[in-house]
Amino acid sequence: MPLIAFASPKGGVGKTTIAAHVAALLAGRGQKVVALDLDPQNALRLHLGVPLREEGRFMSSLAARAPWRDCLVDTESGVRLLPFGPVDPLRTLELAVALTQEPALLTEPVREILASPDILVVVDSPPGPNAALAALMPLLDLLVLVLLADAGSAAIIPQIASNRFLGRGTLAGRSADRAVVVLNQVDEQEPLSDAVVDMARNALGKRLIGAVCRDQGLAEALADKRMLTAGEPGAGEDLQILADTISRHLRLQSSEGYSALSEWRRP
Ligand SMILES: Nc1ncnc2c1ncn2[C@@H]1O[C@H](COP(=O)(O)OP(=O)(O)OP(=O)(O)O)[C@@H](O)[C@H]1O
Ligand SMILES: [Mg+2]
Repeated sequence: MPLIAFASPKGGVGKTTIAAHVAALLAGRGQKVVALDLDPQNALRLHLGVPLREEGRFMSSLAARAPWRDCLVDTESGVRLLPFGPVDPLRTLELAVALTQEPALLTEPVREILASPDILVVVDSPPGPNAALAALMPLLDLLVLVLLADAGSAAIIPQIASNRFLGRGTLAGRSADRAVVVLNQVDEQEPLSDAVVDMARNALGKRLIGAVCRDQGLAEALADKRMLTAGEPGAGEDLQILADTISRHLRLQSSEGYSALSEWRRP
């Protein structure tokens, strides 16, 4: 089954919020979803309503090669979570070095999960380049880059459009062509926000797969340890449309089997 990662060159743009909602919306339709947290901030568990006191670790025990099934944490949304797990800063750096030298530490268990015909894996990653996401890059079916509708994000869009944002060369380009973009915190009342949406649409064509409006309800939902109800006016509706788009293009739950997204590779 497919592997989707939510990532961004930028921090605080809504990767975890969107990853958690898309995972939960797809699980709500009966799709088996495993959410994998690559971020030592451990934020995905909060969005999925797993309290911090709950034990659970996956990434932080990779070196011990614990079986992935033993690391799954059930969540109310139906999504099963592989948490990063508790870590200290030195251990996090050591893990990054270990993954750079031996990406199979992560790719082996992820390949095992993907071998299950009915499990979709949704990955949440920390901002910027990181060893864990780099290890998974060759396995990715879809890299969803989350950007804000602001000037800082607009500056990155041309690099995404030209497949250069992961660096130069054929290998980087091959991974980059699996990237699609979601603009978050779009505010139709703001001329700059509107201009960035237009610019992204022109530069990216079909690779701009969604926009999520700025909605205080999202931040409040997180504070209340709940998720927005599917289709709730505002961001809830945008997130549902995004989940639909991803589901349709990946052909999840279709008898033909999931697709490799070739149509998104050509703007
Ligand atoms: N569309 C939105 N409208 C309003 N607030 C939002 C929206 N999307 C996300 N937020 C808020 O923005 C903050 C950052 O979101 P989030 O943690 O998902 O970003 P992130 O990209 O995962 O951050 P990091 O880089 O630290 O992992 C959170 O408080 C979240 O509730
Ligand atoms: Mg995050």
